[in-house]
Order: sequence, then structure tokens, then C-alpha cells
Amino acid sequence: MKKKSPAKTNKKALAKEKKAAAPEAKSAKKSYNVLRGMRDILPREDKYWRTFYRTGQHLADFYQFNKIETPILEEASLFVRSIGKGTDVIEKEMYIFEDRDGTKVCLRPEATASIARAYIGNGMWNNQQPVKLWYWGPMFRHDRPQAGRYREFFQAGFETLGIKDPAADAEIILVAYSFFKDIGLPVVIHINSIGTPAERERYINELVSYYRNKRSYLCEDCRNRISKNPLRLLDCKEESCQKVKESAPQILDWLEEDSKNYFMKVLEYLDELNIPYIPTPSLVRGLDYYTHTVFEIYPAFDDAEPKEVSADKEGEQKPATSDNNSLPAQAALGGGGRYDLLVEELGGKPTPACGVALGLERAVNALRQQAEKNNITVRDIKYEIFFAQLGDDAKRLALKLINELRGTGIQLAFNFFKSSLKAQLELANNLKVPYVVILGQKEVQDHTVIIRDMESGVQEIIDQKKLEATLKKKLSKVNGDK
Ligand code: HAM
Repeated sequence: MKKKSPAKTNKKALAKEKKAAAPEAKSAKKSYNVLRGMRDILPREDKYWRTFYRTGQHLADFYQFNKIETPILEEASLFVRSIGKGTDVIEKEMYIFEDRDGTKVCLRPEATASIARAYIGNGMWNNQQPVKLWYWGPMFRHDRPQAGRYREFFQAGFETLGIKDPAADAEIILVAYSFFKDIGLPVVIHINSIGTPAERERYINELVSYYRNKRSYLCEDCRNRISKNPLRLLDCKEESCQKVKESAPQILDWLEEDSKNYFMKVLEYLDELNIPYIPTPSLVRGLDYYTHTVFEIYPAFDDAEPKEVSADKEGEQKPATSDNNSLPAQAALGGGGRYDLLVEELGGKPTPACGVALGLERAVNALRQQAEKNNITVRDIKYEIFFAQLGDDAKRLALKLINELRGTGIQLAFNFFKSSLKAQLELANNLKVPYVVILGQKEVQDHTVIIRDMESGVQEIIDQKKLEATLKKKLSKVNGDK
């Protein structure tokens, strides 16, 4: 037998080693992108998010909704039972996987089912009813990404459990409407009633027989919907299906007197509250748990881009990034309704309920669109004072003085990494602050600071001990003059 020379063996071993090391070297260089349909919320957007949270919190406090946080991960069957098997969310969009113990879990696609679970699990029917809850957090749906549609998106939601009263439906709509009004977005409510399950069943029979006769005019999806989820037939955006929809039977005609009266009362409240709404007979919502009132919230400004939401095809659409943000006019900013049977369906006592969830990325996009068109700068923190420092000693003392001003309510801006006065005044100018505090070497020695009026350019020297009082006095005059 021929023996391998040691040199040859070494060479081979080395090549093998190199090959084995290669994938590692490659992966060390791999750069990572955010997953498709997900996005980083960058600091430049933070002004919107802060305003939204503050607005949500303020409304929740005023209308007495208590904050609840539920886990992002839930048992998958919670949503299958709540949202319904034939729905898009369950059939196509769930992030579902097996946990280490074999339990089927999912990233929550929405939070209403979680709220119902939490209501039951924490015995909230023992509390005074209604129980009013609000939440804020990420939801996950593996949908086709496009502008305004992401795979991870944030919702703020408001839910009222334990009461059936048109005033509760109206209050939920009022909170949602006020949220958009307060952040500066005009909206309109599209509203409908889908009655009780029995009423809906009779209506669906009628709808199915109508659509069966029109089968040849329908898109493929709609042909499937006839047997799988007939109510979704009313949602289709295909032109040929839209035409068929125009003459389709309307659910309101199939409601009993009680359901009709309930709906009329909700509308009367909205009239009283001056909330603009459009009765929309084809609105049925994409989740199965609804009964009676259903509604969606749409932008009411002219410049929402009239794009087709459903027209894109997988792989053809633009990536959903924060820069691709023009909002299709058909993209709802929020949606909700009454779900009187959900708590019972999940094993709780009969508990009527209603709620709404607001799509926060869509609100950012719409607000940004508005601001760009109308040349408005959206800024949430209004700085009042810029604190400028010159030289090492001043920098050290400035840090101390700024820290002392923290908590006084004065909105202070500063930048320790700029050393020239010119650069700092430029920053102050950009922030449109009325006054700049200047601390230089001389002021450090004299225990003084200079206060510069940015409009007149007049400067005044004051004792450091009087800084807070002087600033407050000057600012109260500025704020009072407005
Ligand atoms: P929804 O209509 O599925 O309802 O979602 C509410 C809002 O979340 C939508 O109007 C939209 O603004 C936003 N949204 C939904 N999917 C996406 C997405 N893929 N990307 C960006 N935004 C999205 C619910 O979730 C129900 N839980 C609402 C509810 C509360 N019903 C009763 N209580």
C-alpha cells in the first residue's frame, strides 16, 4: 500500500480546516437587515409616538380607562377561537410556533382576545362593571407589507367590558375620534351594525344565494369566500366584485327591531356629540367576534393617497419603511365594535363588551403626510431656554446649574459638545427659544450668568442664585403674551 507523505497530509488537513473555517468568516461579515415588514422606530419619529402616548393616556385618565398590559406571546388557540377560523388573520397571518413544551403559541395579532382572557382569568366580573381598560403595544400579522401595513405594528386600544348600552359604544367611538382630533388628524367614522348571530345567519344565507348566482363575475378569492367566509365578500376591492356588491342585500334590512333600535341610539349619540360618521352597509370587519355595532376610522383629509390597498402582489410592493409612508386612502386608522359573546365564548360569564384599536404607524404616516403638505413642523418638546457654555470651567459649572434647573418645569436645551458660542447660538436659533443663558470664564469667576433675549439681542447679567427665578419670570411673560 502506498503511504501518504506527511507534507501531503498536512496540506490536505490545512485545506480542510480552511474550508471549515470559511462559513464562519463569511457569517462574521454578514450584515443584518430588519425583517421584512418590520421596522425600527427611529428617534426622528419619537415626537409623534410621545404625543400619541400622552394623548392616549390623557383620554384614558379622563374617561377612566385603566391601563392593562398583556403578554405578547399567547396560546394560539385563544385567537383561533376568538377571531374565527375562516378569517385572514387566522388563516394567513398568524406568527405561530411550538413552544419548548410543545404548546402552540403565537405572537398576538391583536389584543381584544387577550383582554377577554385577562378579564376572565383575573375574575374581573367581580369588580364594579363596566370594567374599562386601555392598552398600548405591538401586534404581529404576517401580511403582505406595504405602506401603512406592517408585520409588526403598534395599537392603542380601549375596551369597555360588562355593559350593553349604546352610550358605551358611543363613548368608545368618542375616545377614538378625540384621539385623532387631539393629535391633529381629521377623521370620519364608517359605521354599521351586524346584529346578532341569528340575524347574521339569516342575512348570510341571503347573501350566499345572491352571490352564487353571480359567481362568474367574481374574482377567485371571492368564489372561495362564498363557502368559506361570505361576509368578506363585501370587503373585496376588485372592480368586478365591487359592481356585484352594489346590488347585494344589506344587513340592516335583516335586523330585528331591537337591533335596529340599538343601532339608531348609537347614531343619535354620535349626532349629539357632533362626530362625523358615514353609515356603511358593506362594513362587516375582518374578525368574527363582533355583534351589533362595527366601525372603522378613516382620514378625512383630501390628500390621503388614493391607492388600492389590495392591488399589490407579493414581491412587487415597495418595502414598508418609514420613508415609504404615504397612506392609502382605504387604510383604516382604527377599527372596533361590540363583541357581546366573546367573553362567554372563551369560558367566562355572559359579558357584553365593546372596544376599539387605533393603528399607530398609520397615524404617524397620516400626520406626517399632513405636515409635509401643509408645511407644518411637528415638534412635541417646546424648548424655552438654551444653556450655552464657553470653556472647561464653564462646562463643569454648567452641568451643575443645568442639573439644578431640572425639575423646575423649565424646558432646557443644551449641547456640551459644541464649544463655540456661534455654534450654540445657532442651535438655540433653530430651536426658536426666546432666551439663551450664557456662562463663560468671567461669569464663572463672578458667580453670574448672561441672559440673552434672542429676539432683541439684548443681554443682561444676573447672579447665578437668581437664575431660576429670573428665567421663570421672563418665561411667564413670554407665555402670557401668546
Ligand atoms: P383591526 O381592524 O384588525 O381591529 O385593527 C385595528 C387597527 O390596527 C386598524 O384599523 C389599523 O389601523 C391597524 N392595523 C391593523 N393591521 C395592521 C397592519 N398590518 N399594519 C399596520 N397597522 C395595522 C383589531 O385589532 C381589533 N382588536 C379592534 C377592537 C378592539 N375591536 C374591539 N376592540
